[in-house]
Amino acid sequence: MLRLDESLEDTAGAGRVDRKNRPLLLLIGSGGQIWREYILKSVGHSYDLWLFAPKEPGWESRYLKGNTIVDTLDARAAVEAAVRLGESAPIAGVLCYDEIRVPVAASVAEALKLPGANVDGVRACRDKHLGREALAAAGVAQPVSRAVASLDQARDAARAIGYPVVLKPRALAASVGVVRADGPKALESAYAEASEAHFDEIPRDEAWVLVEEYLDGPEISVESACADGRVTPLFIARKSLGFPPHFEEIGHTVSANDPLLDDPEVRRVLQEAHTALGLDTLVTHTELRLTRTGPRLVEVNARLGGDLIPYVAQLATGIDYGMVAADLVAGGEPAMTPVRSGTAHVQFLYPEHDLDVTTLTVDGDHALPPGVHEVTLMAAPGRRLRLPPRDHVAGRYAYVVTTGESRDECLAAVPSAARLVHLAGDPVA
Ligand SMILES: Nc1ncnc2c1ncn2[C@@H]1O[C@H](COP(=O)(O)OP(=O)(O)OP(=O)(O)O)[C@@H](O)[C@H]1O
Ligand SMILES: [Mg+2]
Repeated sequence: MLRLDESLEDTAGAGRVDRKNRPLLLLIGSGGQIWREYILKSVGHSYDLWLFAPKEPGWESRYLKGNTIVDTLDARAAVEAAVRLGESAPIAGVLCYDEIRVPVAASVAEALKLPGANVDGVRACRDKHLGREALAAAGVAQPVSRAVASLDQARDAARAIGYPVVLKPRALAASVGVVRADGPKALESAYAEASEAHFDEIPRDEAWVLVEEYLDGPEISVESACADGRVTPLFIARKSLGFPPHFEEIGHTVSANDPLLDDPEVRRVLQEAHTALGLDTLVTHTELRLTRTGPRLVEVNARLGGDLIPYVAQLATGIDYGMVAADLVAGGEPAMTPVRSGTAHVQFLYPEHDLDVTTLTVDGDHALPPGVHEVTLMAAPGRRLRLPPRDHVAGRYAYVVTTGESRDECLAAVPSAARLVHLAGDPVA
């Protein structure tokens, strides 16, 4: 990794450290090091962290006070382990940023009578069909959506909704199996893809595929603090998508002064959605499309955003979103006022076709070009990079972070950062 400065470390937990009397935060799942280490690094300044995970910690160890080996997809086992842990040390809060483990974290928080997301609210976020039903009942702006159990039902739904439509699995993540279909022929392959997509950890419902009206317009994601159901949007990320008809996320830009933060329509849809879903105390990642008829909801995730969005948001604003998440669930007062007013962007680099990596290097001899904050490699020789639809997110071999006054300035700096990375490999047949 090449990095311009240590500015994130400067703000992380500044002025908060009291190593003796630190509250204990229970962390359910830790995620991958590239994606989540910056969070443990900053939250670990102010809290003692105790990890629940199915195996012994590796990279996380240096940030932990302790850990328990437990099945973090089993709510009963996790609650029992948390109750036992609480008997020896008071637990201040339960933190989880792992999409498929947030339901278990909500159950643990509820059992310990700690602030949390709310078990039913999280279920409605995880199950996209339940979520759509709750949002529709409350009249929240969103696409028409139908759950289907066969190709015939998908055809009927698409005909009734009108093309183009989006097909997606009911409860996955990372845009796996999410495909746009512009007509009946494309619908067949889209249905096959969406219906076959699965994660081993997630049980499949019989009506596993949703057929949705296609929302046309740029996409944003909003990171919000939700306290007792009241939503405060903190960052807007402008999303770059790639690999149509799939929806791979290839970049995100956060500007401290993004005018959409104060947009009354965006704020209204956000609040209405959180209320309809019954979310209580947590941070959320909400995806919206800005359509001709106003902002409409793609989905609310009951956790902070992935893809390093909180990381670039902190570079742009100085707000430490990991700490916001931790302080909220520990019943504290999060610091949510920006102390910077910049723009930061993360861009993921992909090969032109599937590739077995033979060499991957980054020029480290010179200072980084203007506007380039960081260049980090994400793969090693021997790794197979596979592009959508064969895999999702697994085609990325590096990310670059650029900073500037505006999104255009950040995007303009990406090519000079990308030129520092040299990838070679054998094409996969
Ligand atoms: N109805 C829709 N209209 C337009 N675009 C959509 C629609 N539904 C999904 N998308 C696009 O597909 C992407 C992935 O969909 P969705 O968020 O539902 O799935 P996911 O697997 O949870 O993805 P992720 O984890 O990447 O957010 C969205 O971010 C959006 O770009
Ligand atoms: Mg999503």
